[in-house]
Amino acid sequence: MRTEHAPTIHRADYRPLAWTVDTVELYFSLDAEASIVRNTMQCTRQGDGPLVLLHEGLMREDLTVNGAPPKAMRDEDGRIEIDLDGEDAVEVVVVTRVNPSANTELSGLYQSAGGLFTQCEAEGFRRITCFPDRPDVMTRFTVTLEADRRDYPVLLSNGNLVEQGELEAGRHYAKWEDPFPKPSYLFALVAADLVVLDRKVTTVSGREVLLQVYVEAGNLDRADHAMDSLVNALRWDEETFGLELDLDRYMIVAVGDFNMGAMENKGLNIFNAKYVLAKPETATDVDYEHIESVVAHEYFHNWTGNRVTCRDWFQLTLKEGLTVFRDQQFSADMLARAGGETARAVKRIEDVRVLRTAQFPEDAGPMAHPIRPDAYQAIDNFYTATVYEKGAEVIRMLHTILGPEGFRNGMDLYFSYHDGQAVTCDDFVEAMSEANGVDLDQFMRWYSQRGTPTVHADVAFDGEAETCTLTLTQSRPDKDDEPLQIPVAVGFINAVGDDIPLRLQGEAEAGATTRVLQLTERQQQFVFEGLRPGSVPSLLRGFSAPVVMAINESDAQLAFRMAHDADPFNRWDAAQRYMTRTLLAMAASDAPEVPRAFIAAFDTVLNNIALDPAFRTVALTLPSEAYLLEQMDVADPAALRRAMIIMTQTLGRALADDWLGHDEALAVPGEYRYHPGDAGSRALRNLGLRYLCAANDHQGVGLAELRAANAKNMSERFGALMALVQSPAVEAAQLALTAFEQTFGGDALVMDKWFAVQAAAWRWSPEQPATLERIEALTQHPAFSLGNPNKIYSLFGSFFRNNPAEFHRPDGAGYRFWADRIRELNARNPQVGARMARMLENWRRYTPELQQLAREQIEGLLKEEALSPDVREVLEKALG
Ligand code: TRP
Ligand code: ZN
Repeated sequence: MRTEHAPTIHRADYRPLAWTVDTVELYFSLDAEASIVRNTMQCTRQGDGPLVLLHEGLMREDLTVNGAPPKAMRDEDGRIEIDLDGEDAVEVVVVTRVNPSANTELSGLYQSAGGLFTQCEAEGFRRITCFPDRPDVMTRFTVTLEADRRDYPVLLSNGNLVEQGELEAGRHYAKWEDPFPKPSYLFALVAADLVVLDRKVTTVSGREVLLQVYVEAGNLDRADHAMDSLVNALRWDEETFGLELDLDRYMIVAVGDFNMGAMENKGLNIFNAKYVLAKPETATDVDYEHIESVVAHEYFHNWTGNRVTCRDWFQLTLKEGLTVFRDQQFSADMLARAGGETARAVKRIEDVRVLRTAQFPEDAGPMAHPIRPDAYQAIDNFYTATVYEKGAEVIRMLHTILGPEGFRNGMDLYFSYHDGQAVTCDDFVEAMSEANGVDLDQFMRWYSQRGTPTVHADVAFDGEAETCTLTLTQSRPDKDDEPLQIPVAVGFINAVGDDIPLRLQGEAEAGATTRVLQLTERQQQFVFEGLRPGSVPSLLRGFSAPVVMAINESDAQLAFRMAHDADPFNRWDAAQRYMTRTLLAMAASDAPEVPRAFIAAFDTVLNNIALDPAFRTVALTLPSEAYLLEQMDVADPAALRRAMIIMTQTLGRALADDWLGHDEALAVPGEYRYHPGDAGSRALRNLGLRYLCAANDHQGVGLAELRAANAKNMSERFGALMALVQSPAVEAAQLALTAFEQTFGGDALVMDKWFAVQAAAWRWSPEQPATLERIEALTQHPAFSLGNPNKIYSLFGSFFRNNPAEFHRPDGAGYRFWADRIRELNARNPQVGARMARMLENWRRYTPELQQLAREQIEGLLKEEALSPDVREVLEKALG
């Protein structure tokens, strides 16, 4: 366990270190219980002060400077300082011992399924050896791995394999050299029994490179999609940004126990197996999509993160926001290539749905922070939706403001200035500004302001002059904040549903139908000429900025835009607004009912076969409960759940024949392929089953039973299972769950889905067992394990996040269960524990009775003696 009191680190306190490390040679004598690490560093002075080495949880066996014990050395709180007055260059040797099999935090060197793996971002390298473990220290690494040949036949590290051979007593070794200086957080090693999928490709400059995907024996038939995704990402970065792979060898390794999604270690990406392994029988379309984007994300980090890295962890969004933006653009291009422009729009919709569900509540809660935070206690807590997803939106706004070419020029200049450096967000925005001759000083405020801005829109027509004045007013959650630069994409639709070419005051003729307005003041007016009263505004098209757009619209106007808006994003958004408003009204009512006009609007979209099934699916999917709760004045999960149940049952019953008809018409013939068209058809059929089963429709339940048992691919099988579990058809659901378990009980990744779907189950009737009791029983299931983060996320995360009505139970049992899990995880894996702890951070939004119950549990936890800094920071802020 780490120290109990966590000091707050401030961005303003950044100072360069007095000493840097030019080269490091690591010799690992690997063993599951006792691995010895011999670390030889060539250090040089670059300023006044001691040499600093950081460490955590290490057994130190030796430390010498130029071959002798240091004369003046302090060692406190994981920080060694060695005074080296008069020296400008020294060799430091440190020998440490670690026990990978006891490392339950999965940070540093740890064991998983008999293999040894590392995870160093953000501060795991100091759990392997003493080192100035900060991203601004860039070092050339040479690594020798020595291990038992039988247990660990594969020995990998960053860069190129330069030597390997046999040793005595059944041991062997491999020596790796990384030609590029890198920060320690990008170091990695793997020693395990794995099989590999190889592919050779030629890069744009004509170099042949070896791409590899390493998986456990028996999983080779699930590695192709990850490999294809890697090749596509490599090509895309060459074509889109002129960025080439800089190594001769690029490896991806799948591991079963991993705290996050994946890690971009130089030349040796380590992945949560769930973002590598896919075959049609075990992975859904959504899994395929996630794999494609995570593989690309880590690959893109090679330039945005590795070649140019972060000066300090406050700059995290420099690499993450930019790289998320890049992976979003890549996925959108790939989808559009196969499925046309609607597929691109659907991707955008999915990304915004994530932002609204995860980031908006974060930005309105006790952990709210700017995309570049000013202070933290545990950096692991700042790998957030704000840094990643809002960070990507900020980059997207730059792309919108500068245009694709201007953005590309900015990227080129950024690399020409900063390749090989550890830099700041200012450096990035300055390169964008200089390359385009555009002042971005005001834009920089996006990096320092927290909270979601609201833009109020007021539309006034002057019938005689045929002008329309659009007044936009921005307001900030922190009242004193200066106004932001907000690009607002705007269109108008005429009475028959066509987009109108727009003419702004002062322009000679009408131009494009969508115009991007730059809102830079608190309030601004934009006058459009030649617009008839009754033209319908369509604002913030494509979600051109991460803001809340507030405008008074009648139900009829929303239904109109839902049916006609030429911007697919806004068409979806109109549906979301209509659903949100309707569900909130139902939740506030004693006798909730779905209005007829709403059903009609829904019906119109469902039966508009000119719209791609993928689009109809997202348009007809209700907003997440997490998002809806955020919209309530007082979050009342029970009232909302009642409304959700009545809504889904009504839509299933009222449109049963339509759902059944589409189900038949959209059956996808032939072999499974991952293709947006096919995936869209499957998704709409799955959505139909959800509504039909919710209504306990006899035919719908029958179809779901058949498909859950017999479908050839996991998308259809799991879609059907989910529909049954999420319905009042208790017996059918139980039979399907048991059969599913019998088929897939030995497959960890598939079982994750089985756990997750049960944890998210609503209670449709009093006969159904309460979800919490079910979850408690499932923790005893042989496939469940507290040591595996994927299991924690599937069983607990899915419950806390996706099942508010059952989690926020009026008797407080959900909160007690939560607190007990935090206690367990705090000791075992604080990073994951803190993630779970965050799931109650917005407790003050709930009803007074729930608040009281939540407070008791949070306060109780804070009395625990050995709270990790990660968990403590979250709880203290939640209570704060
Ligand atoms: N940099 C990783 C990414 O691409 C994130 C990550 C992986 C991470 N493992 C981690 C962050 C462990 C913190 C701790 O997004
Ligand atoms: Zn990343």
